[in-house]
Amino acid sequence: MSDPTPMPMPVPHDAPTFIRACYREPVDYTPIWLMRQAGRYLPEYRAVRAKADFLTMCHRPELAAEVTLQPVNLLGVDAAILFSDLLIPLEAMGATVKFPEGGPEITDAVEKPSDVHKLRTPPAIETLGYTAEAVKLIVAALPAKVPLIGFAGAPFTLASYLIEGGGSKNYQKTKAFLYQHPAEADVLFDKLVDMVADFLRMQIDAGCKAVQIFDSWAGALDPEDYERWGTRYTRRLVQAVRRPGVPVIVFAKGTGTYFDRVAASRADVLGVDWTLPMDAARALAGPDFALQGNMDPIRLLGPWEQVRQSADRILDAAGPTGHIFNLGHGLVPQTPPDHVKRLVAHVHESSAARNRADV
Ligand code: CP3
Repeated sequence: MSDPTPMPMPVPHDAPTFIRACYREPVDYTPIWLMRQAGRYLPEYRAVRAKADFLTMCHRPELAAEVTLQPVNLLGVDAAILFSDLLIPLEAMGATVKFPEGGPEITDAVEKPSDVHKLRTPPAIETLGYTAEAVKLIVAALPAKVPLIGFAGAPFTLASYLIEGGGSKNYQKTKAFLYQHPAEADVLFDKLVDMVADFLRMQIDAGCKAVQIFDSWAGALDPEDYERWGTRYTRRLVQAVRRPGVPVIVFAKGTGTYFDRVAASRADVLGVDWTLPMDAARALAGPDFALQGNMDPIRLLGPWEQVRQSADRILDAAGPTGHIFNLGHGLVPQTPPDHVKRLVAHVHESSAARNRADV
């Protein structure tokens, strides 16, 4: 790869543990946060959700702030993640987004190739300014040791929602679009990079201390197509948003067999799902990246003892530096909140004991 290894500034000793781990600096314990840590498994979230529908919660800064802070206070995680949704910037581009019971529905999007020319890329601050307001409220309320992570979708995953109109089993429409209309697909992916880069920069300007790019459905692509439509555009996005001291995380789910191509996005941190052991991920990525992951979220539906053993195996395989503990995908609504609380406490205690034994 031609671009240099991301070399940030010296990381301050008093930087939050999560930030130090993102830059592979020594830490006293392994930091942990969890994808979908704000969500329906928490009774406290459901209480807010009973009063407002999901999109209203995303649009109203005080509601988004309230639920973002819940897991920080209830679980003791080392980072907060902005409460919003992947599909929010698609509204600013001119699509209509709805969240009925069965999953998201996107209309006025990309039904035919020429529709890509209709999509807009307005300045994020003018169309998504409520997200900047939410970030400011959250950062003002968070302890200094708990950074706020902003996020957005990677072009392929966002394009899949625009083209399929919702979720999909095999991404047939999206992939057929890439094969049949590559020129229009490049226009679409360029627009998505522009919109998302501006949205992420707005989140960082408002106070986010790290950003995560979700490529949730990247695993639908074969290795060559991931390089063409995943790596190429994700790398451009990483370059457009990277700032000294603000780590960029890329989570491309289902890409274990071509994880080297995910590493080629040159993010600071790479998300790992449960199909790839952490030591194997290290071997594929090389030494220049921190890793985040990788417990199967469904494990938390089983007995605590197995959750604990799995957490210890992950800590062993990942090693003491350059690891942020997380799941291989988001928490599901059926998760017992008590297991989540115990997992956070266990990762802190178990990793701290290992690190003490190491010195
Ligand atoms: O806690 C957090 O992680 C922050 C909040 C967050 C949500 N969505 C809240 C949410 C984040 C980071 C997302 C990202 C997101 N949204 C992704 C990428 C992560 C992933 O899971 O791969 C994707 C693919 C989406 C799109 C999306 N949003 C789907 C497919 C669904 C329906 C499935 C479901 O879980 O209901 C949503 C809805 C959604 N996003 C909910 C939440 C809390 C549930 C909505 C509700 O409360 O009714």
